[in-house]
Amino acid sequence: MLHVNSISKMYHSKPALSDISLTVQPGECIGIIGESGSGKSTLGKIILGLEKPDQGDVHFRDSNLHTLKGQALKKLRRHLQIVFQDPAGSLNPQLPVWKSVVEPLENYPDVIPSFLKEVRHNRKKMAQVLFQKVGLSPELLERYPHQLSGGQKQRIAVARGISLEPNLLVCDEPTSSLDVSVQAQVLNLLKKLQRDLNLSFLFISHDIAAVQFMCERIVVLKDGILVDTFLTNELFSASRHPYTKMLVEMSMEQEYK
Ligand SMILES: Nc1ncnc2c1ncn2[C@@H]1O[C@H](COP(=O)(O)OP(=O)(O)OP(=O)(O)O)[C@@H](O)[C@H]1O
Ligand SMILES: [Mg+2]
Repeated sequence: MLHVNSISKMYHSKPALSDISLTVQPGECIGIIGESGSGKSTLGKIILGLEKPDQGDVHFRDSNLHTLKGQALKKLRRHLQIVFQDPAGSLNPQLPVWKSVVEPLENYPDVIPSFLKEVRHNRKKMAQVLFQKVGLSPELLERYPHQLSGGQKQRIAVARGISLEPNLLVCDEPTSSLDVSVQAQVLNLLKKLQRDLNLSFLFISHDIAAVQFMCERIVVLKDGILVDTFLTNELFSASRHPYTKMLVEMSMEQEYK
């Protein structure tokens, strides 16, 4: 479904990504790990079409993402959505949250996701169904972002992310801003949605335990280079790249601090 072919990207003549290739199948969840500055978000942005690679290309649903324009690009981008680290940043503080949730649908008046067919003529009911999908009480529909907890806001951002029934959700550190107790709830929600909607995920995180829980396959970036890729159950195998082993050790030390 998604093919990233040998992409490279420089910022101010410094490589942020060098010759990265990867494939994501329908319904698959790929984890991207690596230290700060290793190029994870840059890769996410290129896959979303928000940044152009200097070299290489991205094929999504059999189209070259970076050569499409206008309506064709818009049509394709419907299937690529994002959940950011900071949920507040993706919500308009001036709008009751239900309006933020259905905003993407307003940009695509012709798109009726399968789970919204029965309520297609009523935007608020659409928001209600989306709230239900992410485990939020309908009492919160009229609230403003500042009246919600971090976990609730992230659920709103997820509801917005799935509102167009995308094929691929790029989650860039989706739980890093949340309390530990809430992180697991949001991860469980993402996993449930993945199954219910047959979503693919590109799951970017520092949190190796979260990546292990969510993903079947893991890609390791170091200074913009893909140094290791493997099935999640091979995370502790002796044949892992030394850098991967170091990341695993670092994450264990953090857990026991
Ligand atoms: N818009 C930009 N302009 C200039 N340099 C950039 C830009 N975006 C990223 N970079 C640089 O590219 C490299 C990769 O950054 P990126 O944000 O992709 O890393 P990351 O792995 O997501 O890090 P983090 O874990 O801190 O989010 C870094 O050296 C960063 O400074
Ligand atoms: Mg990042």
